[in-house]
Amino acid sequence: MPTLLHFKEKLASLRDQVESALGAMLPAPELAPARIHQAMRYSMEAGGKRLRPVLALAAADLFGRAADALPAAVAIECVHTYSLVHDDLPAMDDDDLRRGRPTCHRQFDEATAILAGDALLTHAFALIASAYAGRPPLALALVREFAHAAGSTRLIGGQMADMSAEGHERIAPEELEFIHRNKTAAMVELSLVAGGLCGDAETETLEALRRAGAGLGMAFQIVDDILDATRTSEQLGKTAGKDAAYGKATFVSVHGLDASRAAAKRCTDDALSALRSLPGDNSFLLGLASAMLERDA
Ligand code: IPE
Ligand code: IPE
Ligand code: MG
Ligand code: MG
Ligand code: MG
Repeated sequence: MPTLLHFKEKLASLRDQVESALGAMLPAPELAPARIHQAMRYSMEAGGKRLRPVLALAAADLFGRAADALPAAVAIECVHTYSLVHDDLPAMDDDDLRRGRPTCHRQFDEATAILAGDALLTHAFALIASAYAGRPPLALALVREFAHAAGSTRLIGGQMADMSAEGHERIAPEELEFIHRNKTAAMVELSLVAGGLCGDAETETLEALRRAGAGLGMAFQIVDDILDATRTSEQLGKTAGKDAAYGKATFVSVHGLDASRAAAKRCTDDALSALRSLPGDNSFLLGLASAMLERDA
């Protein structure tokens, strides 16, 4: 078993790789029109846990290929950040605080935030197309996975169902599961699968990564719902207590806190058993899955 120190060092090192690649892989801030590029960077460089790119790098690392996965990892963070910028808009969750700073539309304006989100999503595909131009089958497989995960049946579909459920805090459990599986777990699945694709993983391994991502992603959103109800805005870097105030359907509103904690644990256990079937040294991914369950922000 790796020590806790080893886990923390590896997490810090993968995060550092993401942070330094981000700056280099986004359009330069002075490129015209500077305002759009500054807004993109404002939201991307605000920090955040970088969980999804770290998962992508860690999955590729099972095959010794973390470096190859960096552009895909940054592209995933672009899609994720776009989804947050739009999620915070007045027409959606109407949030003022994100990653410890004013939300993009608060710092700039609504039109700029809409365009910055659009530009980040588009940039993700540009990054993949150029970074993997020398490996066309990989580029194609990544584009297919990204488009599916970010599309109208998954991330967008989940966000649509989330918005439709607003004001109906006690929706059916299956509906709530649909929301979480798609608005959040789709991108976590994508992260692990993209890492596996960069490492030339076999079909069976890709399916194990997908199963692990589904469990981890579901647990992640359940914990997000729990934290919204139990932490302060200062701790989270985003407005706490928002879900109850807006009548959002969440695991906490549908199942209560105790059952939500038990469900997050069950989903994490599913993910752990899928991760255990992976080839290579899976100890970091196992540690990360457990850390995500215990996180407090
Ligand atoms: C927030 O994601 C949106 C959810 C899917 C819950 P994160 O909690 O990963 O946000 P950052 O990237 O760390 O800011
Ligand atoms: C958002 O879920 C999921 C996506 C951004 C796709 P939430 O609305 O719960 O995320 P937070 O709590 O604002 O980060
Ligand atoms: Mg939302
Ligand atoms: Mg929100
Ligand atoms: Mg939330």
